Amino acid sequence: IIEKSLQGKTVLITAGPTYEALDPVRFIGNHSSGKMGFSLAEEASKRGARVILISGPSSQVLTDKSVELHKVTSAKEMLAKVFEFYDTIDIGIASAAVADYAPKDVAKEKIKKNDENLTIELVKNPDILKTMGEKKTHQFLVGFALETQNEEENAKGKLEKKNLDMIVLNSLRDEGAGFKNDTNKIKIFTKTEKREFDLKSKDDVAKDILNFVESQLLK
Ligand code: C5P
Repeated sequence: IIEKSLQGKTVLITAGPTYEALDPVRFIGNHSSGKMGFSLAEEASKRGARVILISGPSSQVLTDKSVELHKVTSAKEMLAKVFEFYDTIDIGIASAAVADYAPKDVAKEKIKKNDENLTIELVKNPDILKTMGEKKTHQFLVGFALETQNEEENAKGKLEKKNLDMIVLNSLRDEGAGFKNDTNKIKIFTKTEKREFDLKSKDDVAKDILNFVESQLLK
């Protein structure tokens, strides 16, 4: 028996890095693979949800063709795409590693290596998940936190500050965890609960996360 436990739900997932253009050929980005978000999308779809996956540049491929994939490049594009759908979703999961800053100006032509020193001014990107939290009406919101110090405190702080229902903490200190690996080791926090999980494949981590979301929706 295939249990369609998310039948009738719409799930929006952000995934991957964002690239912030410096000039026509260069960008500021990060090493996020997008794997966690793609695993979540495939698993949510298996459970019968309508899945909207909004991904920055990632080499992941979907096997489930019913996942609605929207590719974006920058944080601003990701924000705009999220809010095309935001009113219609039941669950929002932000697994994207959004660049915190973007170049203030994008050079029209390729920047030449004429000077010994080059300074690039950066400006803060919009916080997509925080904006989702501010505009929350009925959506169940899940964030991720990747911390190197005071992990639990920082994760719980983000839960509050971004008005989330749940936050998934992955520690860089754990071998095999984090955004470049195929495995992950997580802790989940809600305002009142805490659960720790073992190191496992991101496909299995996706199952744990969605099981936890489902248990919260039943409350
Ligand atoms: O504040 P911090 O970047 O650590 O928060 C991480 C969480 O917020 C992740 O869920 C990430 O996807 C989301 N985020 C976002 N937009 C940003 C920065 C982070 O959606 N500009």
